[in-house]
Amino acid sequence: MTDARADVIAMYSRHPISAQHILSKIGPGPHPPEALWPHDQDHYGGLAANERLAEAVGMAPGMKIADFCAGIGGPARWFAHVKGVDVTGVDLCPDRVAGAAALNEAVGLSDRVRVLEGSIAAAPLPDAAFDAVVSQEAFMHVPDKAAALAEAFRTLRPGGRLALTDITFPAPLAAADRDLLRRGLMFNSCVSPAEYVAAFEDAGFEDVRLTDLSAEWAEILKERLRMYLELREETAAAGAPQGDAWFYRAYPRFVELIATGGMGGALVSGSKPEFR
Ligand SMILES: C[S@@+](CC[C@H](N)C(=O)[O-])C[C@H]1O[C@@H](n2cnc3c(N)ncnc32)[C@H](O)[C@@H]1O
Repeated sequence: MTDARADVIAMYSRHPISAQHILSKIGPGPHPPEALWPHDQDHYGGLAANERLAEAVGMAPGMKIADFCAGIGGPARWFAHVKGVDVTGVDLCPDRVAGAAALNEAVGLSDRVRVLEGSIAAAPLPDAAFDAVVSQEAFMHVPDKAAALAEAFRTLRPGGRLALTDITFPAPLAAADRDLLRRGLMFNSCVSPAEYVAAFEDAGFEDVRLTDLSAEWAEILKERLRMYLELREETAAAGAPQGDAWFYRAYPRFVELIATGGMGGALVSGSKPEFR
């Protein structure tokens, strides 16, 4: 296993948003799916961001969806419950995969949501099996974005659509920031919005669209930093994973860089052509 992968697994095994902490707050279940929504969305913008991603791929009842880097499965369960789809997630971190299974079980969604352990750079999924692939705030961890985009393309049926949100880098960061964000937040690949569109096109996607989320994320991230600081105390009291010192060192600088335009965020989507 590469160092980058091992570091990502280590970070998410200690992440302050964990199934262990959520279940310690709400109890083991059974619960309605809605009970998890304030706790299990590990991305910016919560449920509204799920809605926007669903819209970007034209999600409709009965579809089969792949969620790349599904984490503890918050978006996957929301898509299954609200949009009436069947979701197969992939996540690198065994603790996130186990956490997703525990939360699926707690809300009775195990038959329509599953998260498999694996890397999206070599996804454990069949060819052309999915109507849509979605992903939220995870591709920045993957050193080889081209391989992950190729896997999304491979697993989509012709005509299917990929939509992802990710952090973007309008210009290269100073070396000290790059190192801090790699060490604390595992940002392992940094591309500009234009490079993202080119990467989609190189992977074979057409009708590629990019929505700039930077201004929106600047506000959301300030709130998220406050949430992490609260969670740090709460998780310590609950004996749940808390995040490491580097995470808390890097996060304020990340929020500052997004607020000042040194970094940004985007939703990028594209379709696999019907005929090739
Ligand atoms: C910020 S979390 C997002 C989780 C989820 N998408 C959500 O919105 O709640 C990023 C996730 O990406 C996963 N991840 C990072 N690199 C990966 C890779 N190469 N393959 C699969 N999962 C990966 C991490 O384990 C983590 O669960």
